[in-house]
Amino acid sequence: MPSKTYNFDQIIDRHQTHSFKWDNVTYPQSLAMLPMPVADMDFPVADEILEALDRITAHGILGYSIVPESLKIAAQHKIERDYAWSISLDSQVWIPGIVPGITAACAALTNENEGIITAVPVYHPFHLVAGWVNCPLITFEMVKEGDRWTYDFEDFERGLQKGPKVFLLCNPHNPGGTVFNASEISRMVDLCAQYNVTIVSDEIHADLRIYPQSEHISIGRLEKQPIISFFATSKAFNTAGLGGAVAVIPDAAMRDKFTKASAGFFSMLSRHSIEVMLATYAHGEEWLAQLLPYLRANHDLLMDFVRVTPGLAMQPLEGTYLAWIEYDEAMLGDFQKKCFDAGLHVLRGEQFMGKNFVRLNFACPHSLVEKAIELMKTVISG
Ligand SMILES: Cc1ncc(COP(=O)(O)O)c(C=O)c1O
Repeated sequence: MPSKTYNFDQIIDRHQTHSFKWDNVTYPQSLAMLPMPVADMDFPVADEILEALDRITAHGILGYSIVPESLKIAAQHKIERDYAWSISLDSQVWIPGIVPGITAACAALTNENEGIITAVPVYHPFHLVAGWVNCPLITFEMVKEGDRWTYDFEDFERGLQKGPKVFLLCNPHNPGGTVFNASEISRMVDLCAQYNVTIVSDEIHADLRIYPQSEHISIGRLEKQPIISFFATSKAFNTAGLGGAVAVIPDAAMRDKFTKASAGFFSMLSRHSIEVMLATYAHGEEWLAQLLPYLRANHDLLMDFVRVTPGLAMQPLEGTYLAWIEYDEAMLGDFQKKCFDAGLHVLRGEQFMGKNFVRLNFACPHSLVEKAIELMKTVISG
């Protein structure tokens, strides 16, 4: 029996909380916007996380903090238990966030003008980072296979032949929700070994597998060459605003390069973020176990709507809460703008280099997903 049943139906007003999602300054005053862009959830976090924050408040001191060994042990257990990858404590470098971590990894592993390869579409910093570290970006396409998105492996290989130094992997994939399977992961490993490309793997969505049959395969578990893999509890347990992540870099020389490339750029982790990650590792699983079926129900609601709606298409997600919806421009026009004008903010696919797509974040109470569907129906019926 769960010690508590969480009520994810509850609507919590996030206006005037400096919320990136709800207090967006571009929103018109005249319209009550329903925001479904940036990837955070409109759900309160687990009680144990709130208790950890209360303990810090009661103590009252907010000085600099060190990353305790207990946090490293907790991450080590989690990665071994849930992703079957056995890592050492020494391989861990704790950082304030994955995006700065990816930037540091790319800076460490490339010289100017050496390429970085990644998929289209993908979480937009993967495309932007090439410009940040002065390297050319090489992209390859994703394709629909059956009812899921996967890599176009031939296009991937054509890209690898251009001589990139780094491959950026997002697993589970944002957007599109693919949880890459064993055969896809081993093809990636083999191709990167053949072309001598270092894998940098972002696994922030690993715990958000909304369909339990998909297993998260950490590529580090198969890779024989040095690798940098990123993990965080912040996305799945909804503490993204506090930051905190770990780079797992088993190879000492590569770890040293990463640490040097990031020296002076990263702030120290806050006490809040350390205590919250400890509480999440120790107590977060029950909350997550209740969350996943709730997200799955939202996903299915959306999927049922898209299936019967001419002009819209979507592949069912295996992971993440970020739906990737394709629209027929000839039929629906600029669907993202029409939704925005009607009061629904979804992200334009171009942000991820996907034309005629929108990305919709459904990590919110069912009633808000129902409202989004009603707004899309109004847009479509013109
Ligand atoms: C794939 C992926 N990586 C990283 C991030 C952000 O990570 P951080 O806040 O730790 O920089 C996101 C946020 O949505 C994401 O989707």
